[in-house]
Amino acid sequence: MSYTYIEVTKQIKPYIGLIRLNRPKELNALCLGLMDELVLAFRDLDSDSEIRCIVITGNERAFAAGADIKEMAGKTSTDMLQVDQFSKWEAIKNVKKPIIAAVSGFALGGGCELTMLCDMIVASESAQFGQPEIKIGVIPGAGGTQRLTRAIGKARAMELVLTGRFISAQEAYDAGLITRVVPVELYLEEALSLAQKVAAMAPIAAQLAKESVNAAFNSHLDEGLRLERKNFYLLFATEDQTEGMEAFVEKRPPLWKGR
Ligand code: HXC
Repeated sequence: MSYTYIEVTKQIKPYIGLIRLNRPKELNALCLGLMDELVLAFRDLDSDSEIRCIVITGNERAFAAGADIKEMAGKTSTDMLQVDQFSKWEAIKNVKKPIIAAVSGFALGGGCELTMLCDMIVASESAQFGQPEIKIGVIPGAGGTQRLTRAIGKARAMELVLTGRFISAQEAYDAGLITRVVPVELYLEEALSLAQKVAAMAPIAAQLAKESVNAAFNSHLDEGLRLERKNFYLLFATEDQTEGMEAFVEKRPPLWKGR
C-alpha cells in the first residue's frame, strides 16, 4: 500500500510494524488525509499475523502538533458534524495489538490525544505534551478531556486544558502520562526495544492483556474484574498457554504459535 502522509515499515524488527507520520513541514499536523491513511495502516497491521506490536512515531521536532488548524479554520459546526472526522479515531482505539508511541518534540492537541490512544508512550527528553486548543477558541475533541484526566488526574488535566500550557517529558513522566523518558537520540530505539519485548510474549495473551487493562478506564471495578477473569480463562483455550506452562516446567524458552 502506498501512502502520502505517512510511511509504514513492516518488520522493522521481527514482528514489529512502524508507522511514521510524515508531514514534517507542517509539524505532522493531522489533516483528514493523514488520518484516513493512519486508520488504513492500523487496520492493515492489526490484521497481519506476522505483526505483534505496532510503533508509531513522527520526527525529532514533532510527533504531531495537533489537528490541521488551516484545514479546520473555515469550517462551520455543520461541516464538522457532517465530516465527523474524530469518529474515525475510534478505529485506532479498537486496534487489538499493543501500540507504542515514540514521541519527540511536540505532541499537542490531537497529537497528544493520539499518543493517549496508544498503550505505552516512550518520549525523548525534548518531547512536549499539551492540549492547547483553548488558545484557538476550542477544546480537545478526540479524547483529551477524558483520557488526560484519567491519566494524570483532574487537578493537573484541568490546568493543561484551561491554560494550554505544555509540559515537558519529565513532567509528563512524573504525572504518570508516559512510560519512560530517554535521551533524544534513543527514543525510537527504546520504543522498538520495548516493542520487541512485547512481541516476544504470547500474541493472544498480549492482546487480551491490552483489552483487560483498557477495561479499567471504561468500566466499574466489578465489570473490569469479570472481563479480566474471563480473558484469563479464555487463554486456557490457546496452544500458547499449554506451551508457556510446559516450557516453564521443562526450564526452556517457549515457542509461541499465536494460537
Ligand atoms: C496546521 C500547523 C500546525 C497545526 C504547526 N503548523 N502546527 N499547521 N495545523 N496544528 C505549521 C505552522 O503553521 C508552520 O507552517 C509550521 O507548521 C511550523 O510551525 P511554527 O509555528 O512556525 O513553529 P514554531 O514557532 O516552532 O511553533 C511550534 C508550535 C506551533 C508551538 C507547535 O506551531 C503551534 O502552536 N501549533 C499549533 C498547536 C495547536 O494549537 N494544536 C492544537 C490544534 S487543534 P507555515 O507554513 O506557517 O510556516 C486540535 C484539535 C484536536 O488538535 C481535536 C482532535 C483531533
